[in-house]
Amino acid sequence: MRDQEKSTALLAWYDINARSLPWRVGPATRQAGVRPDPYRVWLSEIMLQQTTVAAVKAYFDRFIRLWPGVTDLAAAEDATVMGEWAGLGYYARARNLLKCARVVAHDLNGRFPDSEEALRALPGIGPYTAAAIAAIAFDRPATVMDGNVERVMARLFAVKTPLPAAKPELKALAAGLTPKTRPGDYAQAVMDLGATICSPRNPACGICPLRAVCRARAEGIAPELPRKSPK
Ligand code: ADE
Repeated sequence: MRDQEKSTALLAWYDINARSLPWRVGPATRQAGVRPDPYRVWLSEIMLQQTTVAAVKAYFDRFIRLWPGVTDLAAAEDATVMGEWAGLGYYARARNLLKCARVVAHDLNGRFPDSEEALRALPGIGPYTAAAIAAIAFDRPATVMDGNVERVMARLFAVKTPLPAAKPELKALAAGLTPKTRPGDYAQAVMDLGATICSPRNPACGICPLRAVCRARAEGIAPELPRKSPK
């Protein structure tokens, strides 16, 4: 199976198994080619940086109810936003959230930029978040790397080099798999695969859409990958 067939298999799996999350659009809307609102993608990705999906959902819904668009958030009082953030932790994220909202609202006419480079110039947006927004909101073929993606790539290609030394190789493999069509759905498909099937300890290889081509599975070492350098 070539790279393109792997991404096609993953997209077909995602079409049926995508998690329903408040910052995503539903399957019918998605299949009509409609992308999610960049503001919602940005807000969710900032919240998800150090917090689980389960914990983020309620916060995300509350923020959207209070501030449906980036200009609403930009106009909010600092103390109100910090109060609503309470419980999510890592308060530098909330301070940067407000800074970023104000730059987008006041300097960019309320529109998030669509390139990774321009996104990275905004407060609080690093390489991961820039790639995630470019892919998910703007369907750019950006390579989105997080722990889930690293694990999926390490297993799919049986990369035995330990982390963090393996990072550049894993990124190159992930870049090679990123398709030109539907890169935004593809990025979320890898995240969902890593979260639900290709899990750290007990991967559900028997129901994985990539089971036929996973080298770690063939070698019987999927649960052992990725390896980590001793600290
Ligand atoms: N974790 C980080 N970003 C995510 C997303 N967009 N969907 C699901 N899980 C995520």
